[in-house]
Parts: sequence; C-alpha cells; structure tokens
Amino acid sequence: MYVRNCWYVAGWDRDFPAGVPTPVTLLDEPLVFYRQSDGTITALEDRCCHRLAPLSHGQIEGNDLRCMYHGLRFAPSGTCNEIPGHTAIPKAMKVRSYPVVERYSVIWIWMGDAAKVEESLIPDFVGVDDPRWHMLPGRMDYEVNYELIQDNLLDLSHIAYVHRNSFGGGRADTNKAWAEAQLCITPLERGVRVERWMKNAPTPPHQVALAGPVCDVLTSFDYLVPGIFLLTSANYLPGAAERSGAERPTETPVFSSFTAQAVTPLTRRSTCYFFCFGPSARTPGAADLKQAFLELGERVFNEDRRMLQAQQRIIDADPSRRMVLFDVDKAPMLYRRLVERLLKEEAAGAAAA
Ligand code: FES
Ligand SMILES: [Fe+2]
Repeated sequence: MYVRNCWYVAGWDRDFPAGVPTPVTLLDEPLVFYRQSDGTITALEDRCCHRLAPLSHGQIEGNDLRCMYHGLRFAPSGTCNEIPGHTAIPKAMKVRSYPVVERYSVIWIWMGDAAKVEESLIPDFVGVDDPRWHMLPGRMDYEVNYELIQDNLLDLSHIAYVHRNSFGGGRADTNKAWAEAQLCITPLERGVRVERWMKNAPTPPHQVALAGPVCDVLTSFDYLVPGIFLLTSANYLPGAAERSGAERPTETPVFSSFTAQAVTPLTRRSTCYFFCFGPSARTPGAADLKQAFLELGERVFNEDRRMLQAQQRIIDADPSRRMVLFDVDKAPMLYRRLVERLLKEEAAGAAAA
C-alpha cells in the first residue's frame, strides 16, 4: 500500500537535534534517527537485533549507536561492531540501515530497496532555507490514511467550503472564484500539475493590504511522488489572464506567496503533514509576515484535519461504500493511477529479484 522506492520527508532538519536518538515511525516501520559526530544524519531500524529493544533508548557514541539494554553497539551501516565481553560477532547481528539525505531544510529517507536508491529522485522541494520566500516550518499529525490528505490537496475546490472563513475570509465572491475556476491539469512523469486562473477575484481581507482589492490570481501546484505539494499563488492586476492568453504571464505579480508541503504516512491510519507557507521575499516587510502566514496555515490545515478525520471515521464505519466522483476528482484520480502503476512496477521488480 506504500510506494517504497522513493524519498519521503521524515521531518524538518531541526526535528533531529545532535546528541539525541529520535524515534519516528514511518510507513508502519519503527525507525531511529541520530546524528554522527560530524552531524551526518543516520537512520536505523528502531529494534535491536538481540532482544528487540528500541535503539532509540540507546546512546550515541561518536558515529555509532549503542543499545542500552545489553550494550551491543551498531555502526551507521547497521552492522554490530561491539558485543561487550565477546570478540566474535555473528553475521546476523545487524539492523537495517536506511539511506537518508539532508537537503532543502528537510530530512529525506528512502524506504525501499537500498540497491535501487537514486538520489536524483529527491523532488525539487522548496524549504524554509529558500531565499525567494519567507517561511517558517510547521507540522501536524492527522489520524487518517495518507490518501485522504493526498486527495484533499489535489482538489482545491474544497477551499471554498472548508476554508470559507480562513482563506476565503468569509467572502462569498472569493469562495465562488475558488469553486468555479477552470482547471488545467497536466500529468507529470512523477506527479500531477494543476493550474487555475481566478479572474477578477476579490481579495480576501487578510491579503488586501498586500495585493489590492481585486486581482487575477494564478495558482499553480505540482503534487509529486510520494506526497510533495508545491504551490505558488500569484496575484496580478486585473486583466492579466486575458493579456497573457494561453502563456504564463510575463508581467510582475503584485503579490505572490508559496507553500511547500509533504504528506508522509506514519501508519495505516496516521499521517504527518509538514508545511511551510509564506510571502515572496520581494514583499515589503516579508520577514515580519512569516509568523502570521504560519498561523494562517495552522488554522487552515486544522480545518482540513477536522474534515478528513471525520471523513475517515465514516469510511471506516462501512468500508464497502463506494465514492461517486465527478470532474473535480480528475487530478486525484490521475495521481492515484500513477501510484497504482508505481506499486505494480515495484511488485514486479521484487518478484523478478
Ligand atoms: S536488546 Fe539490545 S543489546 Fe540486548
Ligand atoms: Fe485544505
């Protein structure tokens, strides 16, 4: 049920401080992260091979992690390099080690076959260290299967309803623009792109000072395997959509903002949602707006969480009930088909090995 030969976001870099083993469950697997003496991030199975005690209760020693039950010590590769009082170390004394990379202010982990690891598959994420935007890191756990968050992000028509008073600022005309915008949906090799113009859209109250009262707004997002969401929203002077025709506008937006998000399954029924959200660095006073954008994001994503957790409870009460879909579901369905294809390819690869 999970695509494994890909890079998941395990957390923001700052979630993994030096000197402390950090336990994290991802894709139903218990993991422990720790930093080697030079700061290099390492991930091991959080289960000592001896009597299955958690290594996250262990102690970091230079580049190694010692299990604090009976003292076995493990190298970053997962091999045991010390059994107190013994010189011979059985070959089976090892734990699984996972490829990890620290990039774009997040920690990426490869949950699949280590022989197939490909660093080039790390998505072009935009983290809180990107100078083009002013953003702070956020995270939120949902008690839902990751697919519900994925579907929610791939169909933003819900903004008009779930976020009518937050993003929509309680304005019926702003919400109507979100609900009725025409979409341009493009399949990507490892994702789906969705673009929408909202023409002559009244600006929600919290953005009027930044963007003016009415704009043509172009929102464009990519949703990439295994759950990376990158959205730019650009407000232009009214008429920009007509002036640019079918092309991307060349004029400078009055205001633009960006959000990067990552959906990482923890277990079958819990998912971590990482996000950052903020204004363009060109916005006057952008650095001072970071906190307000983070708080708006938290408010908005809490609205999603309430809806999706309630939806999950209904689904679980009778899993036999089918959904009746319509054209707003096109992008979520395209993405689900891509995931199905990748799952089949992984299963075929594993069977052939
Ligand atoms: S359980 Fe880890 S050393 Fe015994
Ligand atoms: Fe939402």
